[in-house]
Amino acid sequence: MEKEAAILMAASFGLALLIGTLAARSIGRPVLQLVDSTQRLSQGELGHRIDLDRRDEIGQLATSFNEMARSLKASYEGLEQQVEQKTADLKDALDQVSRISELKSRFVSDVSHELKTPLTSIQGYAETLLRLRDKISEAQQLDCARTIGEESGRLTRLIDNLLDLSHIEAGTMRLERGPLSLVEVAQETVHALQIQAFEKQIVLSLSTPETLPPILGDRDAIRRVLDNLVHNAIKYTSPEGRVSVTLECMATHVKTSVFDTGVGISPENLERIFDRFFWIKTPGVQASGTGLGLSIVRSIVEELGGEVSATSQPGKGSVFCFTLPAQPLQDMVRGPQKTHTRRG
Ligand SMILES: Nc1ncnc2c1ncn2[C@@H]1O[C@H](COP(=O)(O)OP(=O)(O)O)[C@@H](O)[C@H]1O
Ligand SMILES: [Mg+2]
Repeated sequence: MEKEAAILMAASFGLALLIGTLAARSIGRPVLQLVDSTQRLSQGELGHRIDLDRRDEIGQLATSFNEMARSLKASYEGLEQQVEQKTADLKDALDQVSRISELKSRFVSDVSHELKTPLTSIQGYAETLLRLRDKISEAQQLDCARTIGEESGRLTRLIDNLLDLSHIEAGTMRLERGPLSLVEVAQETVHALQIQAFEKQIVLSLSTPETLPPILGDRDAIRRVLDNLVHNAIKYTSPEGRVSVTLECMATHVKTSVFDTGVGISPENLERIFDRFFWIKTPGVQASGTGLGLSIVRSIVEELGGEVSATSQPGKGSVFCFTLPAQPLQDMVRGPQKTHTRRG
């Protein structure tokens, strides 16, 4: 009896041991796996997952662990992307700042050069006229006077552009918006630049429709727009080329186009042509410029409610266009409107 009891006890003990061992294996190993995975995750192995196919609590724990690891990886990647994006944005902004600062310092030296060149030449020709007027021919005297006139024109243009720029930057550009004849302004511009064109043997022409409604704008500012465009067209066209200014009536606007048969502009430069301080050294054209003209043209035209555009074929020529609002027909019937200032 005692022996049987002992055997029974031993068997129960064995069975308990077996069950214990099995239970320890089935719980302990996955728990160790979980501990190991948690450590790997904490060390940055975000792609690590637990491979356990169980439906009990340990299986649920493994599934939750995997979900947590997945969402941790996703938010980490999102964060990494954001950091990358912000770093790229910051780099772009820094590049832009250094480009602008480079352009500004080049601008200061360009402006100084642009002011000094005509001044030196005016001074030289004026001195020649004063000192040698008895020794040089009348034709030579006229030549001196003409050069002085041209160089003064160059100075005036530059100073006007600088003044416009400072008003644009300070937001104090005051423009009239009265009705005026664009034909007259275009005639004045073409007339004033005719000598310059003639000296380069460039044919400068103006073509206007029989009737054109008055436009709403500021006479001096529009004159400067046209002056800049026609001046550029002559400057960047080789002798014996052609420059023509055309006015045409659109639905609500009047469109002005300045065509030239000049050097043209490459597509990548054309994109930046209206940017402030942007100018290109053109082979064969006397190195000068500040890159201000076209940016002022755009500011004035847009301020007056119009648009500018440019197309070009390198080696063949360019077309610069701008539109300006025409005076509405009903206003014309009512009679001339009073000129009024837009701001200030
Ligand atoms: N009609 C044109 N044909 C070819 N290039 C032009 C023409 N007009 C302007 N450009 C180019 O655009 C640049 C910027 O012109 P602009 O703003 O008037 O400055 P700037 O006359 O001071 O050089 C010029 O350096 C020139 O290379
Ligand atoms: Mg210019």
